[in-house]
Amino acid sequence: MLIKKSETIKSSEITGESQYLKRRDFIKGAAAMGLVGAAMPKQLLAEEVDKTKPLQFKKATAAGESKGFYTGETLTPYKDVTSYNNFYEFGMGKSDPSRFAPDDLITDPWSVKVAGHIKNPGTYHMEDILKRFDLEERIYRLRCVEAWSMVIPWIGFTLKDMIQWLEPTSKAKYVAFETLYDPKQMPGQRSFTSIIHWPYREGLRMDEAMNDLTLMSVGLYGKTLPAQNGAPIRLVVPWKYGFKSIKSIVGIHFLESAPETSWERLAPNEYGFYANVNPNVSHPRWSQATERRLPSGLFDFSRRKTEIFNGYGDQVADLYKGMDLRKNF
Ligand code: MTE
Repeated sequence: MLIKKSETIKSSEITGESQYLKRRDFIKGAAAMGLVGAAMPKQLLAEEVDKTKPLQFKKATAAGESKGFYTGETLTPYKDVTSYNNFYEFGMGKSDPSRFAPDDLITDPWSVKVAGHIKNPGTYHMEDILKRFDLEERIYRLRCVEAWSMVIPWIGFTLKDMIQWLEPTSKAKYVAFETLYDPKQMPGQRSFTSIIHWPYREGLRMDEAMNDLTLMSVGLYGKTLPAQNGAPIRLVVPWKYGFKSIKSIVGIHFLESAPETSWERLAPNEYGFYANVNPNVSHPRWSQATERRLPSGLFDFSRRKTEIFNGYGDQVADLYKGMDLRKNF
């Protein structure tokens, strides 16, 4: 496993705060003078504003493989996990989130409003949420609906544990999630060409939310989440297409009926509510039979067969027993 131990963290990653701020000022000053250009790519700015911090967590081990908590497949390098992203709030290009989010997204302080059919509604600060749960690592495959995939060592706690704390009533049949809406911080939300009706919304059926695989992630590769990956808290649902794994969550609502979700609203014939990874049901515009495992090069040797439920059938197939997966795609 490629967990970075604290002794191997580069000194550039643990720059003292005052020195860090000086360097930020220098770079911002240089930018104002027009000196940031070819000589100082924006990517360097993203690294300069790396706000990630090491986390304490229980490591994933091969013993968790039968539960789906671990895969021994080669991890996608940190660089690719954090520079090839979908986070439309920061633009539609794959490199937009890593260029803009680290600088623009303020993730501390952060709070999550929890409402609906639960006994403990409220607005909870990140620290209050974090202190309730032990963090653990989960090494999951992430399969995007665009037919690329990664293997990522996430850190988090199960949504099940969070739901048990919040105590849903018998009326709670679905869980809906909402990303931060703040056009000042999120340039994609200001864009006239944006296709999403903000804020980004997602949802799960209650039994999906309670599955042991469903993770509230607060970190990856041993550290807190980089902004471009959905800091400070996001969902990870490994058997579903990546768009279900909503980032930078500020709202969780427990509902009686299925919530409207962003991609389903945008193109209901292309993106269903369930969005379970399924090689047998093509997207109307492309096949889902195979995927490109990142990083991939010019001569694309990394194409592989896509597995039903992204290889997590043993853990989740029962949830969909008797359902027509072509209709409920
Ligand atoms: N969450 C929000 N708020 N906005 C987004 O644009 N993109 C989704 C999902 N969560 C998205 C989001 C898509 S399409 C994918 S594939 C995953 O995030 C990508 O996660 P990653 O960039 O951390 O790999």
